[in-house]
Amino acid sequence: MHTQVYISAVLCFAASAFAGNLPSFIQPCSKSDPNLNQCIQKAIEVAGSKFAKGIPELGIAPLDPMELGTVDVENPALNLVFTDTVVTGLGDFRVNSFKINTETGKAVFDFTANVTLSANYNMDGQVLILSIKGDGQAKIIITNLNIVIKYDYETKDGHWVVTKYKDNYKMDKAQFKFTNLFGGKNKELADTTLAFINESWEIIMQDVSPKSLKKITKRNVEEIKKFFAAFPAMELMLP
Ligand SMILES: *[C@@H]1O[C@H](CO)[C@@H](O)[C@H](O)[C@H]1NC(C)=O
Ligand SMILES: *[C@@H]1O[C@H](CO)[C@@H](O)[C@H](O)[C@H]1NC(C)=O
Repeated sequence: MHTQVYISAVLCFAASAFAGNLPSFIQPCSKSDPNLNQCIQKAIEVAGSKFAKGIPELGIAPLDPMELGTVDVENPALNLVFTDTVVTGLGDFRVNSFKINTETGKAVFDFTANVTLSANYNMDGQVLILSIKGDGQAKIIITNLNIVIKYDYETKDGHWVVTKYKDNYKMDKAQFKFTNLFGGKNKELADTTLAFINESWEIIMQDVSPKSLKKITKRNVEEIKKFFAAFPAMELMLP
């Protein structure tokens, strides 16, 4: 109860920072627009990179760079923990499509970005046939990461609320950099291992990436939820 009152107060305050107006980079579409999907796609293209910088007045954190903190990949064969994880590149995304059904409250957002995950890593275990061990700096460079988010929404107290979502991923390629593999003691082995994991990126990513990618989408959805909470649905979509 108290929390709810507190949150409402914070959001009222936050919204008043915009004097009840949407940020100027948001161009609302009209529900009766026969090309509603295209209109929203355009609006997202226009607003995306600004939104990705975050809206501090609304408590909306930046999506680029996105600070993900600690990510434990939780693979049974490989202990791998990323710390101080930072994801860059999401702000320069390309919208492939946006589809909304305002009757059923379902939407699908499909976008692609070149994304780099940088972190400190600590790793010990097995990658395919190789034993691998090290701690240092890691980079995972993903070319054309395609994220599809399907979500359901409802209008509650005049605001859109995302009730559930599903996410899917594809990518063209991923490449890796790990400094200080094997404690920096065997450069030849480290280079061979790195060449091998670059070549086998597809299988490696299946082992290593699901947790990080889920976390990226979760953060996107969280920030969008804050945005929906800050502005009435009627302002975000005109009649
Ligand atoms: C990602 O980078 C590749 C190669 O550099 C480029 O062809 C592609 O258009 C980029 N994708 C996006 C979504 O910017
Ligand atoms: C793996 O790919 C990264 C990124 O393209 C590159 O910098 C690195 O040199 C590659 N490593 C090897 C050993 O090929």
